[in-house]
Amino acid sequence: MKYRQLGRSGLIVSTVTLGTMGFGGTGWASPVGHIDVDGARRQIGMAKEAGVNLIDTADIYSNGLSEEIVGKALGSDRDSVLIATKVRGAMGEGVNDLGLSRHHIIRAAESSLRRLGTDHIDLYQLHEWDGLTPLEETLSALDVLVKSGKVRYIGCSNFAAWQVMKALWTSDRLGAESFVSQQLYYSLQARDIETELVPVSIDQGLGILVWSPIAGGLLSGKYRRGQDVPAGTRRFEGWSEPPVYDEDKLYDTIDVLLEIGAAHGVSAARVALAYTLAKPAVTSVIIGARTEAQLADNLAAADLELSAEELERLDAVSAQDLPYPYWHQANTKPSRLSAADLSLLGRHL
Ligand SMILES: NC(=O)c1ccc[n+]([C@@H]2O[C@H](COP(=O)([O-])OP(=O)(O)OC[C@H]3O[C@@H](n4cnc5c(N)ncnc54)[C@H](OP(=O)(O)O)[C@@H]3O)[C@@H](O)[C@H]2O)c1
Repeated sequence: MKYRQLGRSGLIVSTVTLGTMGFGGTGWASPVGHIDVDGARRQIGMAKEAGVNLIDTADIYSNGLSEEIVGKALGSDRDSVLIATKVRGAMGEGVNDLGLSRHHIIRAAESSLRRLGTDHIDLYQLHEWDGLTPLEETLSALDVLVKSGKVRYIGCSNFAAWQVMKALWTSDRLGAESFVSQQLYYSLQARDIETELVPVSIDQGLGILVWSPIAGGLLSGKYRRGQDVPAGTRRFEGWSEPPVYDEDKLYDTIDVLLEIGAAHGVSAARVALAYTLAKPAVTSVIIGARTEAQLADNLAAADLELSAEELERLDAVSAQDLPYPYWHQANTKPSRLSAADLSLLGRHL
């Protein structure tokens, strides 16, 4: 296992994080998996054995059941790992049972602590933007949680870059705790975050925890051009994330992943994970696994090194168009670019 600093925090995390969206597996999470406490204990054991020190969950995964299973599976070993969880989704029918209000955040944190059976959350992440609640209210509520010792670090997930910047500026103005990380969807299937969210992470020193790094299984090599969706997978059971806008590009990318995987004697999934880990600002990939065989395969990704030529092939086959104003910035071939700018424009100059 390898370890990286989480943004500018003092926390060191493994480059592979254990995802738990399939723990429980009730309600909307049902297509993802049905891992019970015993299964979770085995997955956590395998992950820890491989050196993983971070587990990611969320209050809304199976309506609290995922957090409960993580808590039970860890038991008295709680301090052997860091726990990240999230707040924002609906945890009840009431009009105030969701969002990023002070009311909901404090109550949700208390409930997550109870379900996890712990006295602190290591990384508390805002699961999604809330356009109604003033950021001053949200960030001061998080600050109270950190000051009371119930939360160690805070982060966001699924924010747009302007929303991240507004939140960082608000924390700074309030003298309140600031995000140390963003949790974002990023894979060879869709490299959207490279446009603004990666540059903002580099510029502001935020770590990136990548969710769905093999696109929920799409990049594992079992989805092939012209073939039916394989039975027993989440797609087969109607799971629609991430959306696929360009099927040809996806299958071209899978072909290259399989070729590179064959050259190394490893799976396409492992190559997809290694690619993501090689990208700027990425701290850790959060892996999901329905089976222990998948988990073993994915855990080994931390040790797979791809050559510059292999990374270049994968970059080329999955390339996305440069949107405005970035194509214009690239066309003017400016000389005054930071590392954040170059992470997007470098290859276009
Ligand atoms: N912040 C957010 O909004 C957000 C959103 C989603 C997820 N997350 C977090 O990210 C974690 C990972 O997300 P994810 O589960 O979508 O990640 P993923 O690693 O992209 O997909 C995992 C799925 O791919 C298939 N798979 C995994 N490894 C495989 C292998 N080696 N060979 C073949 N198939 C394989 C399995 O599904 P099948 O068996 O069904 O094919 C597995 O459940 C979640 O557990 C959660 O903690 C966060």
